[in-house]
Amino acid sequence: MSKTWTAVDRFFEEHLVSTDPALEAALAANRRAGLPEIDVTPLQGRFLELLVRMSGARRALEIGTLGGYSTLWMARALPEGGTLLSLELDPRHAEVARGNLKAAGVAGRVEVRVGRALDSLDALIAAGSEPFDLIFIDADKSGYPGYLDRALKLARPGTVIVGDNVVREGKVANAASRDANVQGVRRFAELVGQEPRLRATVLQTVSTKGYDGFLVAVVIA
Ligand code: SAH
Ligand code: DHB
Ligand code: MG
Repeated sequence: MSKTWTAVDRFFEEHLVSTDPALEAALAANRRAGLPEIDVTPLQGRFLELLVRMSGARRALEIGTLGGYSTLWMARALPEGGTLLSLELDPRHAEVARGNLKAAGVAGRVEVRVGRALDSLDALIAAGSEPFDLIFIDADKSGYPGYLDRALKLARPGTVIVGDNVVREGKVANAASRDANVQGVRRFAELVGQEPRLRATVLQTVSTKGYDGFLVAVVIA
């Protein structure tokens, strides 16, 4: 199937996602720097752009920057005066991301903060941070339950919370899995389901990156 999925991605990319030099340059820079090629796909980046535009988000938070490819998609969708904070553990990833964001002309509205995401989130909460309008969770999958807990503390009614890579080629359905990533996204989904402040669904996706999916939630109270 994956050949079909790639062909379909190409078709829709060609028609819906015009070639963008800054985004292409970011992927090329990531490759040159030897970063793993685990960024969202162009059509998935467009999906993040749509979520930012549809929610009217002005303050966005990303957990897991890598080379800033998804960051770029969201940053460009923000309105005038909008800001994005992206949290990244690896200083080398953050450096590449900062270069890409600068080259794309959005460095002024994006901050990449280095450190364990959980520590950065706790620091934001302790500092009494304003709530974020959209939170994209895409770092280590075993950390998702903790990120959800912190995201709720940094949210307000209407905040959109998205988790990437929750399907994992269907492995999420295997309760007996010993994969910490699988157990992380399973627990994440359970916690979302138990949280009365959230309404959520999952969009299973197929793409050049294989079979995966997004969990999309909105804070209702
Ligand atoms: N959002 C990116 C891809 C992120 S890949 C995109 O789609 O373009 C996941 C990133 O999370 C990696 O860069 C990894 O270094 C980072 N990461 C892993 N564990 C982390 C942690 N504990 N805190 C912050 N970032 C972490
Ligand atoms: C991996 C991480 C991601 O965020 C992703 O979209 C795909 C793969 C990984 O860690 O392998
Ligand atoms: Mg991801």
